[in-house]
Amino acid sequence: MSMKKQKEVDKSLRQFIKDLGYISGGAALLATTPWLQSFTPDKAKEIKNEKARIGFIGTGSRGQYNLHAVMAIEHAEVVALCDDYAPNLQAATEICPTAKTYTDYRKLLESKEVDGVIISTPLYLHAQMTLDGLAAGKHVYCEKSMALTLDECKQVYDAYQNTSQVLYICMQRMFDEKYLKGMQMIHSGLIGDVVGERCYWFRNHDWRRPVPSPELERKINWRLYWDYSVGLMTELASHQLEVCCWAKKFAPESVVGMGDIVYWKDGREVYDSVNLVYQFSDGVKINYESLIANMYNGMEEQILGSKGTMNLASGMYYLENEVGNKSGIEQLIGEIGNKVYASVPGAAASWRPETKQKYIPHNIVEGAFSVTEGQSMIGALNDGSDEILSSFCQACITGEQGENIVEEAYQATTLALLGNEAMKRGEKLYYPEEYKIPYMKFS
Ligand SMILES: NC(=O)c1ccc[n+]([C@@H]2O[C@H](COP(=O)([O-])OP(=O)(O)OC[C@H]3O[C@@H](n4cnc5c(N)ncnc54)[C@H](O)[C@@H]3O)[C@@H](O)[C@H]2O)c1
Repeated sequence: MSMKKQKEVDKSLRQFIKDLGYISGGAALLATTPWLQSFTPDKAKEIKNEKARIGFIGTGSRGQYNLHAVMAIEHAEVVALCDDYAPNLQAATEICPTAKTYTDYRKLLESKEVDGVIISTPLYLHAQMTLDGLAAGKHVYCEKSMALTLDECKQVYDAYQNTSQVLYICMQRMFDEKYLKGMQMIHSGLIGDVVGERCYWFRNHDWRRPVPSPELERKINWRLYWDYSVGLMTELASHQLEVCCWAKKFAPESVVGMGDIVYWKDGREVYDSVNLVYQFSDGVKINYESLIANMYNGMEEQILGSKGTMNLASGMYYLENEVGNKSGIEQLIGEIGNKVYASVPGAAASWRPETKQKYIPHNIVEGAFSVTEGQSMIGALNDGSDEILSSFCQACITGEQGENIVEEAYQATTLALLGNEAMKRGEKLYYPEEYKIPYMKFS
């Protein structure tokens, strides 16, 4: 890796820390986002010139993204790579030729040269690999979602309670500046009471990858089969459910939904279309929708407040009392509409059509506007992925667990799994008591 690339990342990391300081005067933000306490400038000084020795388990698409990112982190060194699919191990070796290679992750875990592992394998392997990693005395960073079943999530959570090793599950929005600042605005009351949440993720793509030979179908297209993945819920929705809980500071209690294969009838098992409603104990609801056969609406995480709306994915917010001027033609249409309705016998003012107002847009972070139009989030500019990886590498040196990182992932994953179960059974499901954990311990 060139020195130039190292410098660039180091600069962006420092800038990130600096930005966090000005967002809120530092202390207030750290109180409401406690996981950032392991990422302050003082903590960064503590690690001096030490380097975390990192091993990679799973070097497919996301693994290679993570590999590039970690190689650009000054306080990390990639020492080991493992994949059981030769072409992907080869691709990783080309990115990092100095690392030792393995095809059996248990052998990598035996290596004394590895401090922490980054697991980027299909979902069905997450729990076992995480548990084995912690048991082998390694710090563990696993990609989202946490695990394939509620029981597995609980096993990972219990292991986390009983380990002195660091555990991170990659919910990168927790390290994304616009989410951090947007949440702080929500929690400080800028948009009033949170009265609703709407999240959606639309794409128009079959989600398939080319398979060189038929027996590799499930290995490569693991996302499409229930034994390996929970489809849209664990691959996309978990990120957005995390945001919904974070905004409310607690988790919903029940869920209903419908899931279907409406378009990609190609032998896959997982739904290509899901619609769910999650309900919090105060009656507030999350409306969730994901469809991968039409991308018109793109993706968004929208927090609806009594005084405004926060569109976290696109990094914008709007206030209810700041409705912009309408154009002449829009005014005319509005007036005609009102007259038409007013002339209907018995039509009171409340019958007038509720046309969408033009709100004045505000950036959550000045100059930062980012939305992926429903396409891949991988590599989206400043999506927090590089920062969470950097924080993990730092934690491998200090041994300090980033607070709430595991709880967020647990909550998001279990809600995604519960939602999927509700769709499969066609029933309203309540969050089971035995899986509840203390969530959002902070104010
Ligand atoms: N945080 C994010 O935004 C984000 C984005 C993309 C993917 N992901 C997650 O990353 C994970 C991987 O996704 P992907 O798209 O890279 O999948 P992928 O299929 O491209 O890569 C998975 C890799 O794991 C390897 N693997 C499978 N079994 C193995 C084993 N027993 N030992 C070693 N290696 C093994 C495969 O050979 C493959 O190379 C998934 O959990 C996914 O949800 C997260």
